[in-house]
Amino acid sequence: MKKKNNFYVTTPIYYPNDIPHIGSAYTTIAADILARWNKIQKKEVFFLTGTDEHGKKIELAAQDAKKKPKTFVDNLIPKFKEAWKKLNINYNRFIRTTDADHEQVVQVILSEVHKKGDIYEGYYEGLYCTGCEAYYTEKELLEGCCPVHKTPIEKLKEESYFFRLSKYKENLLNYYDKNPDFISPSNRRFEIINRVNEGLQDLSISRTSFSWGIPLPFDKNHICYVWFDALANYLTGIGYLEHSKEFQKFWPADVHIIGKDILWFHAVIWPAILFSLNLEPPKKIFAHGWWTVEGQKMSKSLKNIINIDKLISIAGVDSARYFLFREVSFGEDGDFSEKILIERHNNELANKLGNLISRVSTLAETYGMEKSTPIKIKPTLKKVNQLFQNLELDKVLNEIFSFIDSCNIYAQEKKPWETKNKKVIYSLCNAIKDIAILLSPFMPETSEKISKVFNFEISIESLNNDLKINKIKKSPILFKKINTIAENVNSKKKEKVNKSPIIDGIMSSIEFKDWEKLDIRVGKIEKVEEIDGADKLYKLSISVGAEKRTICAGLKKYYKKSELEGKKCIVFVNLAPRIMKGVESQGMLLAAVSQDEKKVIIISPEKDIEEGAKIR
Ligand code: MSP
Repeated sequence: MKKKNNFYVTTPIYYPNDIPHIGSAYTTIAADILARWNKIQKKEVFFLTGTDEHGKKIELAAQDAKKKPKTFVDNLIPKFKEAWKKLNINYNRFIRTTDADHEQVVQVILSEVHKKGDIYEGYYEGLYCTGCEAYYTEKELLEGCCPVHKTPIEKLKEESYFFRLSKYKENLLNYYDKNPDFISPSNRRFEIINRVNEGLQDLSISRTSFSWGIPLPFDKNHICYVWFDALANYLTGIGYLEHSKEFQKFWPADVHIIGKDILWFHAVIWPAILFSLNLEPPKKIFAHGWWTVEGQKMSKSLKNIINIDKLISIAGVDSARYFLFREVSFGEDGDFSEKILIERHNNELANKLGNLISRVSTLAETYGMEKSTPIKIKPTLKKVNQLFQNLELDKVLNEIFSFIDSCNIYAQEKKPWETKNKKVIYSLCNAIKDIAILLSPFMPETSEKISKVFNFEISIESLNNDLKINKIKKSPILFKKINTIAENVNSKKKEKVNKSPIIDGIMSSIEFKDWEKLDIRVGKIEKVEEIDGADKLYKLSISVGAEKRTICAGLKKYYKKSELEGKKCIVFVNLAPRIMKGVESQGMLLAAVSQDEKKVIIISPEKDIEEGAKIR
């Protein structure tokens, strides 16, 4: 009997027809985050991932590569395992549908369902997309093509065995009704319920026109439909065959994490098969959204596939893991942009988290610490627990980062670098312990490093207890800032300051695609203020459409305050912020500088262009 304290999470098993990419990484990291969080909660966790190796799609990919299907997949599996290792994925089993125990499980469940009378022989005539390995109805096609791949659909006509899916319509509707969280997020639930209500057709579960698959135990001329084979992996993975202790402990799965495109298979076909086997359905199916890349669908022809090496080369593994779960609401579609990943790495990880760690560890090394009442983490913890329950992973990160913000504000107010107050330093060190533990499912490597500096364990006990007084050494830098394109261009210009401007322009020419990355807008200067101790800088409050920006600009020598107020200007809005004289400057203004540098004139656009307008 499954206990509350056991947690079973799965990813879909991936088609090994190519190396893994950001899409497969997304689901796998999500499952890893949940597995790690539940381990911290002292649950016994089983995390299953793997590959879906049979079927026409793989057979064709192998033919293209002039290899036998098994040799072809054998060559790709290490790429998956390496990728998951690089991403710090800590699974319990990597299942392959060509594993002997899995092939046996598929045959056993086919026999059981057959014995029950839920499989019958017939003739299939209909539409099939090999890219999806799925059957379609005429109504579902887009101009005669597969709605997902937009490729011509195949007309299949063959003898086939059918699974009596239609028999389970009422059981399914009842199950959805009694388990409102079974299909998550809830907006996806209604889609499925509506379609099931429209009626279910029996499912063709065998093929005769090719041979790369598991033979049906009751008719060796047929091989099993790849989805029937694949779904069974969730049973094989925990030892269904021998009705092992593991199986008793972990079934039903707590959550199958999948992409939105394969919800029908998981929320309709899979529970129906389980009903037929007299097994309980999983507790939850969570369907996440899809990633596009810089606004476009990922595809080989567009050469824009983000593979794992590319993903982690931008700002490191933890920044990639963080970005994927901070950038979009878990469940919604997202757009991957290298520029935004770098911005988040610089602004949130390097500036907010990295600075806090570096500042506080330096203070603790210099002045030591003395026990005091810690900053309260309890309210954050309560919310984080609840959000993890609902798989609102983006919101978990929001909560943790609000707490980081409040620690930075606390430090700013208490100024322990001036007061040398050891109690304040202790409070901050203790808060850092809590932050690192809460962040550890998302950024395991970073949390590990923090725990070594501040001397605590990543565990629930550490979270529930105050940090022990200890000697701390300054932390190494956790997140190195990454220069944005515009900053690179600036520094190149500085190096060539003595050259003719035209030659300089040619020498430091940038690619058109780099120029396109700049976000330049029309703004209006609303307020001009002095900055303490700054003789060149003004602090400008600028409205850029609906947004407000603070920008520090070296204009004091050239303009009176009143000359600037109300003036329109051109703003680079997507530069990483910089702290100048203690003020965070969030962009740059465009200005012309005379050759002798005696005059600086702000470039001001025509009056009738509205604020926020984009400059191209
Ligand atoms: N083999 C089946 C799953 C069987 S599970 C019993 C399959 N494999 S897949 O390799 O095509 O896709 C695996 C997962 O990757 C799916 O959940 C799919 O949604 C996800 N993604 C593929 N591309 C994606 C994006 N661009 N973005 C997010 N996830 C995407 O389907």
